[in-house]
Amino acid sequence: MTASSATKPTPVPMLDLKRQYVTIREQVRAAIDQVCESQSLVLGEEVAALEREISAHLEVASAVGCSSGTDALWLALAGVGVTTGDSFITTPFTFFASASSITRCGARPVFADIDPATFNLSPNAVEQVIEDKRPENLKGVMPVHLYGQCVDADAFDAVAASHKLVIVEDAAQAFGATWKGRHAGALGLTAAFSFYPTKNLSAFGDAGAATTTDPEVGEHMKRLRNHGAARRYYHEEIGWNARMDGIQGAVLRIKLRHIEQWNQRRAEIAATYDQLLLHAGLAGVRGTSIHVDAVGPIALPATKPEAKHIFHQYVIRAHRRDELREFLHQRQIGCEIYYPVPLHLQQCFAYLGYKPGDFPESERACLEVLALPIFPELTEDEQQRVISAIAEFYSK
Ligand SMILES: Cc1ncc(COP(=O)(O)O)c(C=O)c1O
Repeated sequence: MTASSATKPTPVPMLDLKRQYVTIREQVRAAIDQVCESQSLVLGEEVAALEREISAHLEVASAVGCSSGTDALWLALAGVGVTTGDSFITTPFTFFASASSITRCGARPVFADIDPATFNLSPNAVEQVIEDKRPENLKGVMPVHLYGQCVDADAFDAVAASHKLVIVEDAAQAFGATWKGRHAGALGLTAAFSFYPTKNLSAFGDAGAATTTDPEVGEHMKRLRNHGAARRYYHEEIGWNARMDGIQGAVLRIKLRHIEQWNQRRAEIAATYDQLLLHAGLAGVRGTSIHVDAVGPIALPATKPEAKHIFHQYVIRAHRRDELREFLHQRQIGCEIYYPVPLHLQQCFAYLGYKPGDFPESERACLEVLALPIFPELTEDEQQRVISAIAEFYSK
């Protein structure tokens, strides 16, 4: 070994999809080959079979395969009749599409702050916003199961019942997650999943699915994804092209067989990170505090006892977060910020009239969160390298 190779840091990737691919290569290639032979390239039998399998897996009435998680959100909202002039409540601490899908239906996003322990939309904050702001034509609420942990579905059921609201879940990051044994995707009237390649259940390109507990809404969403036509060239309403490709359906059917095992592995990796961070003395005594400082620079992710968290992401709070991120990048250790800017402060939503300070917990989360590498094939050695580098940073 030369001196230079001995000192070179070994990178730890944020995500390495090739490691997953080699474990399922033959099955995936055979499934794609079958689609090639059938030339059933858009929707078709593979997508229909995937829809049946997802419905059975999540115990929902219907699943509708579509072109992306963003389109799934639009289907989930339009499918329950969200339209021009409505308001819809969601969290400002999420991916952009949670709110942009509301505007795509012609409705107005209304934000409420998060629970600082889980980073999920707070049902109490939603209740408060309804009482204080009385949003016009308020139709429903969109909780986002952020990082793979379900929101408190009982609390949202109560808010929805008392204000006659529909619940549309953004389950883009939560395939396989549960609340008291009920699956994400079955906790609202409709829900949206993303199968973007970085997601825990991922396609070979863009894809998504909308689910519903109501079979009629399922039929409606199927029409909407195909230009609002149940029968070709007869359009009952204005829909869009939001169809899923046959190849994506075939690949997802293969991956669906492995998802529970992969999710289990993610949970094990998360538990190992917790232990490593605690043993390194970085996370204080209890670990899951919502405050970080020089004494306890890291806060571990908090999981509610009722939730099965599938750890789509493992996200810590970190003291001096931006410096830590730079340090890890220099050592080629993957890490990401989900999300650096809350949606109420995005330029395109200026017309909604929010200002800095409106949602302090969301704003603080944007300054403190850091996602560490997590994927089922990540090794313990790699995890140790991640934590050693974090410990080195805070020892300086
Ligand atoms: C919370 C959330 N909602 C919606 C989406 C949109 O999904 P897609 O990228 O498949 O359109 C994503 C994916 O990034 C997401 O993380």
